[in-house]
Amino acid sequence: MDIGLLGGTGIEGKGLALRFAAAGAAVFVGSRSEERAAGAASQYNEILGKPLVTGCSNPDMLARCNLVFLTVPFEHALSAIHGAVGSFRAGQILVDVTVPIAFHRGRPEFIQPDAGSNAELIAQQLPAGIDTVAAFKTIPAHVLADPQTELRCDVFVCGDSQSAREKVMSAAGMIHSLRPVDAGELQMARVLERMTLLAIHLNRRYKQKGARFIVQGI
Ligand SMILES: NC(=O)c1ccc[n+]([C@@H]2O[C@H](COP(=O)([O-])OP(=O)(O)OC[C@H]3O[C@@H](n4cnc5c(N)ncnc54)[C@H](OP(=O)(O)O)[C@@H]3O)[C@@H](O)[C@H]2O)c1
Repeated sequence: MDIGLLGGTGIEGKGLALRFAAAGAAVFVGSRSEERAAGAASQYNEILGKPLVTGCSNPDMLARCNLVFLTVPFEHALSAIHGAVGSFRAGQILVDVTVPIAFHRGRPEFIQPDAGSNAELIAQQLPAGIDTVAAFKTIPAHVLADPQTELRCDVFVCGDSQSAREKVMSAAGMIHSLRPVDAGELQMARVLERMTLLAIHLNRRYKQKGARFIVQGI
């Protein structure tokens, strides 16, 4: 399986690259700069101990991968998509991991997207034939990016196409100690994005850093 990361040079991209590569996927880290992509890929491969990750431009990554994770800051999601719009192909799945939370003087603030959630905003902007799925929004990036930490949590996956949702769940299920949970239609991203705000608050209240979710009873 090929996994692409649109803007995969930040900590979220690093975490997904390390986890998917360790699970046996071929990972393509996209960037606006081929040099930055190559540097990130080489850093990730050093951690992995094997050359499993390739760095390339965002358009080259989109030409290769059918499952593409959008890992840019939430406020740049639309400009990142517009910047690469000519490179998307019908049949691709875009997995949105963005969370519309900004920090003001250290305090997290939820920025309510007009579309209901950032995932729905992104879905409205994508060319026809691309399915949007939201996932990985509630897992802390620095936990994902630390291969020594067992995830031991659920990853909530939502999207309007059942087959796209199933493909993302199947990919996420390859990652050790991560349980994919089908969260239903894309509008459930409204809840998932706010759950991340809850996790940030819990971390602060309990002086922790890795709060994440496990659902009992399913
Ligand atoms: N932090 C968490 O715990 C957590 C948890 C769940 C989800 N997330 C989400 O993960 C996403 C990525 O977070 P991060 O901390 O990894 O982000 P980041 O380091 O700030 O940015 C990631 C990459 O996005 C690219 N980028 C930045 N501005 C761009 C623009 N205007 N157009 C195109 N690409 C741009 C850059 O890559 P190049 O310069 O190489 O192109 C950058 O390295 C965020 O949306 C965040 O909400 C974070």
